[in-house]
Amino acid sequence: MDILTAAAAAEALDSDALLVPAFEDQPPTGPGAAWLADLYESGEFKGKLFDFALRHRPEGLKARRLVALGLGKPADLQPAALLRAVAAALRKFKGKGVRHAAILLSGPTAADPFASAAVEGALLGEFEPDHHQTDPEKASKVIASFTVSGASPEAVERGRILGESQNFARAIINEPPNILTPTALAAHARALAAETGLDCEILDRDRMAQLGMGALLGVAQGSAEPPAFIILRYTPASPAPASPHLGLVGKAVTFDTGGISIKPSEGMEKMKYDMAGGGAMLGAMRAIALLKPSIPVTALIPSVENMPGGRAQRPGDIVKSLNGKTVEVLNTDAEGRLILIDAITYAERLGCTHLVDAATLTGAIVVALGHLHTGAFTNNEDFLARLKTSAAAQGERLWQMPLDEEYFEALKTPFADIQNIGGRAGGSITAAMFIRKFVTSAAWIHLDIAGTAWLDDAKPEMAKGPTGVFVRSLATLALDWKP
Ligand code: BES
Ligand code: MN
Ligand code: ZN
Repeated sequence: MDILTAAAAAEALDSDALLVPAFEDQPPTGPGAAWLADLYESGEFKGKLFDFALRHRPEGLKARRLVALGLGKPADLQPAALLRAVAAALRKFKGKGVRHAAILLSGPTAADPFASAAVEGALLGEFEPDHHQTDPEKASKVIASFTVSGASPEAVERGRILGESQNFARAIINEPPNILTPTALAAHARALAAETGLDCEILDRDRMAQLGMGALLGVAQGSAEPPAFIILRYTPASPAPASPHLGLVGKAVTFDTGGISIKPSEGMEKMKYDMAGGGAMLGAMRAIALLKPSIPVTALIPSVENMPGGRAQRPGDIVKSLNGKTVEVLNTDAEGRLILIDAITYAERLGCTHLVDAATLTGAIVVALGHLHTGAFTNNEDFLARLKTSAAAQGERLWQMPLDEEYFEALKTPFADIQNIGGRAGGSITAAMFIRKFVTSAAWIHLDIAGTAWLDDAKPEMAKGPTGVFVRSLATLALDWKP
């Protein structure tokens, strides 16, 4: 989808559908008002959030359709609501003769955060997980362009980069596990680096063995696909002295069978999205590379395939992690935490002072929070407050979970320094506590995105499949960082 900005007057905007934001209980004023008045008067449109109404061939307008876009009460309006309304509107008209859409921003919706959100909404609504469908009709259903009138070009550009970066992550997450192996994921990272000027390094199995990443390699050993440890670095042109160094650690299990502790076959196909944490970090790094924050950011993406087989690790195996602690692997399906701890140790060695990990880590977080909120855990409340601010601005919901030291009791074993599972009770918390034990100096946030990285059913504003959750919140965490 091409994103364009228009200087033309509303009447002259050429499009198949012109979206005009409209509020609840507020007689329309400003550009577009005259065309909306009838819709309000007839009672067919009230301006409530996600209300739509349509007029064909509005007189005096070049646009073929006028779409009244309900945004609710003006005082309650958030950029994230505009994002969802635009996304839902475009999805409604997809495949129905709308190839070129436009939006008329004015008054409050012309402010930069709203302009960015409108563009993000258009891009996110456009995404379909149909990359592998060969239907020749597909191309005709695509919305080819989205024109924004009345906003600053910089805000439109920021929205374009954020929206495209989230879709970039979604496209990778959506790839099937036969195609998206750890090697293929590393190739995506290399290509991204070449396009955007990031620095990219891939550690192979030998290098990881040399370093002593025994926890990660234990998971990888059951697969014929070699593991890859992806490192992407963004360095600002003139970093501030004593700048924080943000590390983004993403779980990238390209397929999680559970290993010897094998999962039931029902629904196992969904475990291709067990690399959504790594995918989110690739998307965030794309946006960071293009929007250039003032702080250095390094992404670390440990990638493996978790398979059973003659070489697979067994329940009862004891592995040595990169930081020297030994782990008793009681369940080979609790593999995400094993690859994350070696990545976190490595991130601290590279000098990261602030770490966020994102991982489809536990089914238990879905039991606790459903599919609405991402579970957040931290060892540093100030750091989490920053992420809460950027997530709230992006409309991405997170919910803080507890991490009292007593939860560590469940991870004690007489046979090693720690065991990799803690029983059914508080499964997401003991998983987070396991990771916590390997963070030595950094401020750290763990995001359990198992419930939010994938949509089982389409929403008005988003297709079924990968959501790309936290791409925008993590990119803006870096972009908007104030000392
Ligand atoms: N990748 C899964 C978690 C998951 C479950 C993600 C459902 C998305 C949807 C993870 O590796 C896993 O298998 N976790 C186990 C942990 C258990 C063995 C302690 C789980 O949640 O059952
Ligand atoms: Mn698992
Ligand atoms: Zn997993």
